[in-house]
Parts: sequence; C-alpha cells; structure tokens
Amino acid sequence: MSKKILVTGVAGFIGSHLVKQLSAMGYVVAGCDKVDPANGLAGAFDTTEPLLARLRKERLAASVTQTGVKYFQIDIGQTDAFASVVAQWQPDTVVHLAAQAGVRHSMQAPMDFVTPNLVGFANVLDACHRLHIPRLLYASSSSVYGMRSQVPFMEDDRTDQPQSFYAATKMANELMAYAYHSQYGMASLGMRFFTVYGPWGRTDMAPFMFAQNIRRGLPIKVFGEGKLRRDFTYVDDIVEAIVGLVGRPELLQGAQIVNMGHQRPVEVNAFIDLLARHLKRQPLIEYAPMQVADVALTCASEDRLVGMLGHWRETPLEAGLEHFVKWLQAWDPIV
Ligand SMILES: NC(=O)c1ccc[n+]([C@@H]2O[C@H](COP(=O)([O-])OP(=O)(O)OC[C@H]3O[C@@H](n4cnc5c(N)ncnc54)[C@H](O)[C@@H]3O)[C@@H](O)[C@H]2O)c1
Repeated sequence: MSKKILVTGVAGFIGSHLVKQLSAMGYVVAGCDKVDPANGLAGAFDTTEPLLARLRKERLAASVTQTGVKYFQIDIGQTDAFASVVAQWQPDTVVHLAAQAGVRHSMQAPMDFVTPNLVGFANVLDACHRLHIPRLLYASSSSVYGMRSQVPFMEDDRTDQPQSFYAATKMANELMAYAYHSQYGMASLGMRFFTVYGPWGRTDMAPFMFAQNIRRGLPIKVFGEGKLRRDFTYVDDIVEAIVGLVGRPELLQGAQIVNMGHQRPVEVNAFIDLLARHLKRQPLIEYAPMQVADVALTCASEDRLVGMLGHWRETPLEAGLEHFVKWLQAWDPIV
C-alpha cells in the first residue's frame, strides 16, 4: 500500500478535504498550493476577493496546519518548483488537483488557464516521470464530454469537441498523460469529476453563489431557464473514491481515465428548490439565456469506477445539501 502522498491544490475545495482524510487515515501527507496560509492570497498583488481569501486561509488551517500535513507554497507553473518539492518529499503517489478551474471563467479569461493547466500540468507530469514517482492521479473534468445528449457519458466516448477553453485544457492533460505512457510507460489515472459540491465549496460555483444570494434575499441568475441538468457529486464521495484508488496501487496501470459522478443528473431548477427548502427562504430567480461554454447535461457512467473499486459511495443530493447548508450557515452567519 502506498503511504507517502503529495497532493497539489490543497488550499482548494477538493484538495483540502482529501488531505484531511488521508492524514486521518495514517498516510504521510504533504500538500502544495500557490496560496499563502497566512492570508489566503497568492502573492502581494493577488486581487482575490476577501471572502475567497478567507475561505482558502481557513481551508488550509483546518486541513493542513491543524493536521500536521507538510505544506509547500509553490506555483506549479514555474519550472522546477514542483520537481524540487517531489525531490524533497519523495512521495510514492502524487494526486494532482491544482488548476485554474471554472468553465465560465475560461470564457472571460482563457489565458488565465494556460500556465496552471497546461504548463503546470506538464511540469507535474515531467517531474513525476524524471523522479520515478510510481503513481500519478490527476483531476480531469466532465466538461471534456462537450455538448451531447447520449447518456450516460462513457470514458471511451468521443471527447474532441470541447465547449470551453477550460475543457480543452483538461482534455489536453489527458492526452499529455497518455503520451507519457506511450513514450515512457508512465502510469497515470485521470479522474473526470462531475460537479462536486459540499462544505468548503468553491465561491464561483452555483451551490455557493445561489445559497449566498438566497440567504440575503438577492436574486440569483439562472442560465438556460434552469433546465440544464448536472450530475451533482458530494465531495465526500469523491474523497472516498480517491482514497480507495490511492490504497489500491495495483489498479493504477497504463494511462487510464475514470468518471466520478453518479449517473443521476438533476435539473438546476430542482436543485434550487431543494437548496431553498434547506435554507428556508424563497429564491428570487432571474433567468438568462444559456451561455456559450455551458453544456446542457452531464451524466456519468459509473461502471468503470465501480468495476475498479467494487463500491462507489453515493450521498443523496438531499443529504449532501443539508450538510452544505449547515456548514455555510456556521461558516458565514448572517447577522
Ligand atoms: N469542483 C468541481 O466540481 C470540479 C469538477 C471537475 C474538475 N475539477 C477539477 O478538480 C480540481 C480541484 O478542483 P477544486 O474544485 O478543488 O478547485 P479549487 O479552485 O478550489 O482548487 C484548485 C487549487 O489549485 C490551486 N492552484 C491554481 N493554480 C495554481 C498554481 N499555478 N500553482 C499552485 N497551485 C495552484 C488554487 O490556488 C486552488 O487552491 C481542479 O483541477 C479542477 O479543475 C473540479
């Protein structure tokens, strides 16, 4: 069983949950991110909004500082920054989650994605190869499937028609990992996450943005008349699956891809109803046309993941949203 782990993107939503769980299970864990644990910013000129800076700072405190996880503050886009961390820590497994995320952000600022998602990914891949790291797991995304109506989305389906630049970077990552397998025999596993939500969630994602506005009696902007359907996946399910894969190194061979979603898409309107019920407030909805980078539907085939792990935990949306709302109300009380 692999024991020494390095996780990238640990000031982020999924990474912070993952390192907390891995260290609770007795793994020897280090994490890296560009975020300064003292203030949640990525450098003196970072213009991150105060709420997000606080979220990152407190995520790091809860999952890294208070758990004794070793932290490296680096920018994976800088040549050799990641390699020097790997050389120091010598992990047997790297879980690479650091990236610029966000489909809609990639419409406004596609160049923000180039360094972290393309150069950064290449730096991680190459360091793992050169320093002989036996296992690399990395975050891909359901967005690689593009616009399609045939369900469920299977890992071997066509993925060469991305709707957003973000999706293109994730697809590029999968191809880069495949090339390192072809050239060097390097093993890797790309995990296509499907709309992850839960406590400590991202401020730019619908669950967080909707909940904040509903709580304050402000309107929420809903694209595509709320008819878009998403395979919402609770963060603990994702963490349990990653931990399961980390604990079964024999499963990681070749350049593999696996979906992490539940084959249970929910219409955004239904999602808002449920969220508003937990918040005990009426939502004020402003409908807007569907955005260019959006896809109408996501729906994961879970067969491959279940085949690998034998079991894929599913937290019902009702329960997941209840946990999320309780966390949000405690973390950001409205006085
Ligand atoms: N949350 C989801 O629904 C979802 C869905 C599909 C894919 N993903 C992917 O999963 C991964 C984790 O997502 P998340 O939701 O936790 O995102 P997040 O934004 O909360 O976390 C990403 C972390 O990466 C760090 N990072 C970005 N650029 C960096 C750089 N150059 N150097 C070092 N660190 C850097 C950020 O500071 C952040 O802490 C990402 O790769 C994302 O694209 C997430």
